Amino acid sequence: MTPVRYTPDVEVIDPEEPRIQAQLVEAFREISETTHRDLGHGYRAVHAKSHALLKATFSVLAGLPAEYAQGLFATPGTHDALLRISTNAGDLLPDTVSLQRGFAIKVFDVEGERLPGSADARTQDFLLANGIAFPTAGPEPFLRTLQLLAKTTDKVEGLKKFISLVFRNLEKGVEALGGESALLTTLGGHPNTNPLGERYFSQAPIRYGDYMAKVGLFPVSPNFTVLEGRELDIDGRENALREEIGVILAKEGGRWELRVQLCRDLGANPIEDASVPWPEEDNPYVAVAVIDVAPQRAWTGERAAILDDQIAFSPWHGIVEHRPLGAIMRARKPAYEASSGLRGSFNGCPMHQPGSAALPD
Ligand code: HEM
Repeated sequence: MTPVRYTPDVEVIDPEEPRIQAQLVEAFREISETTHRDLGHGYRAVHAKSHALLKATFSVLAGLPAEYAQGLFATPGTHDALLRISTNAGDLLPDTVSLQRGFAIKVFDVEGERLPGSADARTQDFLLANGIAFPTAGPEPFLRTLQLLAKTTDKVEGLKKFISLVFRNLEKGVEALGGESALLTTLGGHPNTNPLGERYFSQAPIRYGDYMAKVGLFPVSPNFTVLEGRELDIDGRENALREEIGVILAKEGGRWELRVQLCRDLGANPIEDASVPWPEEDNPYVAVAVIDVAPQRAWTGERAAILDDQIAFSPWHGIVEHRPLGAIMRARKPAYEASSGLRGSFNGCPMHQPGSAALPD
């Protein structure tokens, strides 16, 4: 089936969205203020804890078929990139609480007309998490979970540890909870594996030049793929993920493939409902770029002072040809702007779009 052409009317805007977006900003503000009060430092309202802060190269593959050679991927070649691997809580929990992981990519020297709010940069960000779809169709049910989290930030570490443990041991029970399970697992319950071996997805779609796509990141070097599904021994280790990633990347580099799945049918591949995985049987993810990391010190305080404190990632940092699409994506624009703005003001250091991928060794 040929891919569906992008036209602005694929997005259908609910009149309630501004209210929900304002409430999301408010819930994130509450989380950030709580962690700032408790820890004396400004952190992201979600994905506060980083586990790897990496220099990378991002190489667009040559010879892509025309439908995949779109936007940033229209021109083969290598770009510098920064990578930030995180877990999704808004506070700094010990890694014994197993949480969903995030993978943020910032690609440098990207040509093209810029998205609103990102005119001052020449970067393209991709924000991915290790689940194939978002837990809710739109932002409203997500807001309700978040409001609960905002009220419990810093109060329920014990509870989160408990939930995490229960879910790790009772995965089948989690499945039996049906629709609720995905939401609940945002509190914990992801198998505690090495983040280098995970697969990450945009969950919600983006414009892909003439078409629309979801984006996925797949480990491909054997030292990463061997980690897939392998549980770590994390008992009592506060920063186990940082340590496990650090041991590998101190000696060896590695590679991921960035793959995209094009929207080929607006019924089976909806734009507005981010909770629906697009079936892959006859519409697979196809590689369009590779991301390589050389051996390096994967997490240092000096790197955190830059990538955690001074730099923001957002799906809205990028080019018009990769415009984020759908209600979840629209809700993210004000949320990321407010969260990163607050983080900058707490730390007395405004966010800036870096001109280069330079990081201390
Ligand atoms: C309504 C939906 C969502 C909202 C409101 C939201 C909100 C946020 C906020 C406020 C931040 C912190 C930004 C900062 O302070 O710099 C953040 C970070 C992040 N989000 Fe989301 N998010 C949403 C959906 C998603 C989805 C669908 C994904 C990926 C599949 C995702 C992945 C990430 C990642 C990886 C980060 C960390 C970025 C970094 O390392 O700087 N989010 N999100």
